[in-house]
Amino acid sequence: MDTLKQTLNQFVGEGLAEVSGIVQCNANVITSSRPEFGDYQANGVMSIAKKIGDNPRQLASAVVENLSSRTNKLIDKLEVAGPGFINIHLADSALMNRADHIQQNIRQLIPLATVPEKIVVDYSSPNLAKEMHVGHLRGTIIGDCLARVLERQGHHIIRQNHVGDWGTQFGMLISYMKEISSDAADLPRQLADLESFYRAAKERFDADPAFADRARSSVVKLQSGDAEYLAVWQQFIDESLKHCQAVYNKLNVTLSRKDLKAESFYNDELEGVVKKLQAASLLSVSDGARCVFLPEFAGKDGDPLPVIIQKSDGGYLYATTDLAAVQYRSFELNAERSLYVVDARQSLHFQQVFAVAQAAGFASDKIKLEHVAYGTMMGTDGRPFKTRSGDTIKLVDLLDEAVRRAQELVADKNPHLDVESCTAIAQKVGIAAVKYADLSKNRTSDYIFDWASMLSFEGNTAPYLMYAYARIRSILRRQEVVLNDYKITSLSEQAERSLLLKILQLSEIVDMVAKDCYPNLLCNYLYELAGLFMRFYESCPILKANTELRNSRLSLSALTAETLQQGLDLLGIQTLEQM
Ligand code: ARG
Repeated sequence: MDTLKQTLNQFVGEGLAEVSGIVQCNANVITSSRPEFGDYQANGVMSIAKKIGDNPRQLASAVVENLSSRTNKLIDKLEVAGPGFINIHLADSALMNRADHIQQNIRQLIPLATVPEKIVVDYSSPNLAKEMHVGHLRGTIIGDCLARVLERQGHHIIRQNHVGDWGTQFGMLISYMKEISSDAADLPRQLADLESFYRAAKERFDADPAFADRARSSVVKLQSGDAEYLAVWQQFIDESLKHCQAVYNKLNVTLSRKDLKAESFYNDELEGVVKKLQAASLLSVSDGARCVFLPEFAGKDGDPLPVIIQKSDGGYLYATTDLAAVQYRSFELNAERSLYVVDARQSLHFQQVFAVAQAAGFASDKIKLEHVAYGTMMGTDGRPFKTRSGDTIKLVDLLDEAVRRAQELVADKNPHLDVESCTAIAQKVGIAAVKYADLSKNRTSDYIFDWASMLSFEGNTAPYLMYAYARIRSILRRQEVVLNDYKITSLSEQAERSLLLKILQLSEIVDMVAKDCYPNLLCNYLYELAGLFMRFYESCPILKANTELRNSRLSLSALTAETLQQGLDLLGIQTLEQM
């Protein structure tokens, strides 16, 4: 089923084409900014009028006349407005029919994409030498939401957790593990806190040149495939991945071990990357390192910026691995899109990697490479989020604190709740609050992490939406109503109509998120939806209305709950029946 917007674009586009004689016409239909302008408006007339040198208002009138001569059950009224807009008023009966169709077949609330694509989503991708910290939160949450949205549209999603497991730090860690493994029984205990383990290894490294030498030769042994070193390394990696998985589970993030495609996976391809660049005459040597210089990347002084591919000691770099990964995603996975949900500070890196990949043929013709960039997480003091003493904050600790704070909030709101239920509710509310606060901001800006605002029952927050959902569910439960018990048969009140129209627009919002990768659009939508429900609930009596009206309104409420639930699910947020 097409969305309302798609249907209207098609319909108005045909009329516009017929009247103007231009075959490919974009009707440019958008939702109206104000209800008095109708439900949608077509803005495409003006640019076509300009093209053919016609008066836009006259053209708009001619299009309206043309469209009025065709039957379209969806449209109640068309009118020309302003310099040549066409305001579109939809027919109530068509809205109710659509609702009925969806209620009979709830999968249609978010229809499948007409052309399913193979899409790689590279997200989370922490460095395994240390514990996940707050810097990994945004990428993990935003990436997971995008994977869910695209998957729900029927695309074939390949999650790729491109973890860092292969750099020089691992030499240091291996050497340190070998050193203390005389006391092997103690190793698991030490690895339980990767942060202090890393710190201890680093202290050793900085203090003892002999150790540092051993560390450096450990990397070489590791990267050349020495079985003993690989085994020690694997032990570390396994432990570190367990820590990541604990975070993913707490966060209700869909990543698992099978989505792992670590940097080390590409090790054997790196030599080939260099050869291919050489064959394409793209490599030059600068200070002993092999680099690619592309004219479009210049520094402040106008000198070209290098993309370093191989250091003078033979070591490969972050970009080299990413080139191999583009190749893998293009030709092994055969993907049509590859999303990189990574910090905005890596923008130049990705621009360069994408450009080199295209120049050297690592990218297929069809693959679209997209850096889905996000800003830095700041504290309320406007500086990067850290502990008071300036340390980075471990992600597990942050999430545990979220749950603790949510527990206070829930107990406060609902003092009669038993401890067990309170804990269970807080678990979901706390995590949801953290996720929603992040997802509801435009991802490209830096974002201020603020406990007070994310854990509020007022405003555009997870607790507000979850509470709205639970409230509707409790009404339905008391009346023992399920989704398709009744039909929506009345839209005579403005509040009923606005609410249903909004519900029918979920699929349009999902389309936009899928295309441009901005989850905040979905959050705004859900917030507005919940607001419209509150308005409806206040102005339209349900249980006191006559039977027909009561049933229609219960049906509308049930569909609202379903829409909220599915929308929140796409954000990776679990709803509660009771709060
Ligand atoms: N491990 C990197 C980091 O922590 C992020 C990797 C992102 N993905 C990629 N294909 N480069 O910064």
